[in-house]
Amino acid sequence: MIGIFDSGSGGLTVLREIREQMPSADILYFGDIKNAPYGSKSNAELGALTVQAIELLQKRGATSIVSACNSVSASLAVSLFDALSLAPDSLIEMVGPTVSSFKDSSARLLLAATPATIGSEIYQNAFRMIGKDVGTLAIPDLASAIEFGSSEEEVERIIREAFACVRAGDFDAVVLACTHYPLVTHLFERVLGPVPLYDPALAVGERVKRQLWPREVGEGAVRFIISRDSQPFRDRVAALLPEGGFSIEVLSA
Ligand code: DGL
Repeated sequence: MIGIFDSGSGGLTVLREIREQMPSADILYFGDIKNAPYGSKSNAELGALTVQAIELLQKRGATSIVSACNSVSASLAVSLFDALSLAPDSLIEMVGPTVSSFKDSSARLLLAATPATIGSEIYQNAFRMIGKDVGTLAIPDLASAIEFGSSEEEVERIIREAFACVRAGDFDAVVLACTHYPLVTHLFERVLGPVPLYDPALAVGERVKRQLWPREVGEGAVRFIISRDSQPFRDRVAALLPEGGFSIEVLSA
């Protein structure tokens, strides 16, 4: 069973791609809504939450882990493999697959993400390793506004204000390096016009198939665990899986 985690709804964009690529995988999804947003937390806090999330998924039977949260990528240190008895080929995160999909590209990229992701420099360092300098834009309140169901007007305002300091001619594409952002692609398009938007979930979905198939073939069952109940989360899951057949468990405090 594949265990996926995020601070809340963002990882649903990754779940969607994984089901697209590997419909027969059994999936256990953990959304840590009680501790959302992750993107404004310190490295130490994110490290502790990452360990808790992976331990929970393992305890409930996950044999492979997908971190569907860019903000914790810097916490996924090699030392975790020993501490959590996790084989290196059983963990997939966002940064590696995303960066490697730009290996042969000359596009000038602007990376939009949470302050934690930009501050960790994990993407900038990884892009540098393939000879690319990328522009960055940290958007402090966006993931939280999306998670907790702010109005479209409010979410659009946050995006518009964040991009006000960016010159359109300075980049060719925007990488949505927070898994919450593709939930509002239409609002990015409204603000940015025809600029191409890149969703890293595509590369992660392909990586999951390449790395975990046929090891994680199952019945296509999907279960959710959330650390705090949330109607916006329930609505998004219902829209993503209109055929039903899933369960949502709310962890007791
Ligand atoms: N969706 C996560 C990410 O990709 C976390 C966003 C947040 O909780 O701030 O970074």
